[in-house]
Amino acid sequence: MKFNNILSETLNNITTITINRPTKLNALNKETIQELHLAFKNAEENSNTKVIIITGSGEKAFVAGADISEFVHFSVSEAENLASEGQTLLFDFIANLSTPVIAAINGFALGGGLELAMAAHFRVACDQAKMGLPEVSLGVIPGYGGTQRLPQLVGKGRAMEMIMTAGMIDAPTALNYGLVNHITTQEELLLLAQKIASKIIRNSSVAISSAIVAINAGYSASQNGYDAEVSQFGKCFGTADFREGTTAFLEKRRADFPGE
Ligand code: COA
Repeated sequence: MKFNNILSETLNNITTITINRPTKLNALNKETIQELHLAFKNAEENSNTKVIIITGSGEKAFVAGADISEFVHFSVSEAENLASEGQTLLFDFIANLSTPVIAAINGFALGGGLELAMAAHFRVACDQAKMGLPEVSLGVIPGYGGTQRLPQLVGKGRAMEMIMTAGMIDAPTALNYGLVNHITTQEELLLLAQKIASKIIRNSSVAISSAIVAINAGYSASQNGYDAEVSQFGKCFGTADFREGTTAFLEKRRADFPGE
């Protein structure tokens, strides 16, 4: 499929989606959000894709935020729609995918950019990356899940400070906060993400999707994470992957999961 603002490539069971508007620091305009939705949906439905990596093109930015030029004249109801549609189409959509999503933060991840990275299942960053939610400096607040996901990841006090000051944190601070899991050089960033992806790929994709459901349930106001864990745990016992994983262990060989 041909996209105007993103690139998508699948190799060795890893789909890499690259936001490709470097002259606008990969800012998320409406078309980019729609294309990202389609690219993630295609990857989720592609049985060849076991892990998705999301990154930005160029060396300067992962994503410098939502495209400010697009919403500057919005009314209250248009703004509500923008946030609600964006959350449904992209941010919640990514967070709830069955396929693991790793954000490789290759530069500025600001506003909607950091919210996109936080919607991924986990994050790695290059040592030059800068992260922040600067919305209050524009007279607005994060609208793509940032007020919820940032405190979940770094704790309430740090999230309050980051959001209130509109400041940026550097990669070592993000690592210290637990916002990113690992940092490395710009050159090694995708290699690191691919290395982690290749470890994930060896495991049962159906069990991983159950783990995502159970973990996410604990962060949802309407669900009980422990109940979700019980039901997903039980569900695993009905899968071919469980039969293969346990049989392979008893036969002292490496499991070859059918992914079913
Ligand atoms: N929306 C729309 N365009 C954006 C953008 C955004 N969020 N972030 C950057 N751009 C555009 C700039 O307008 C500029 O376009 P132009 O060359 O046509 O004028 C281009 O990307 C390069 O950005 P520039 O500001 O010149 O780069 P810089 O190196 O001086 O600064 C940043 C980099 C990231 C500090 C700065 O671009 C910035 O603060 N961006 C906005 C971040 C933000 O507030 N995001 C939250 C949005 S809710």
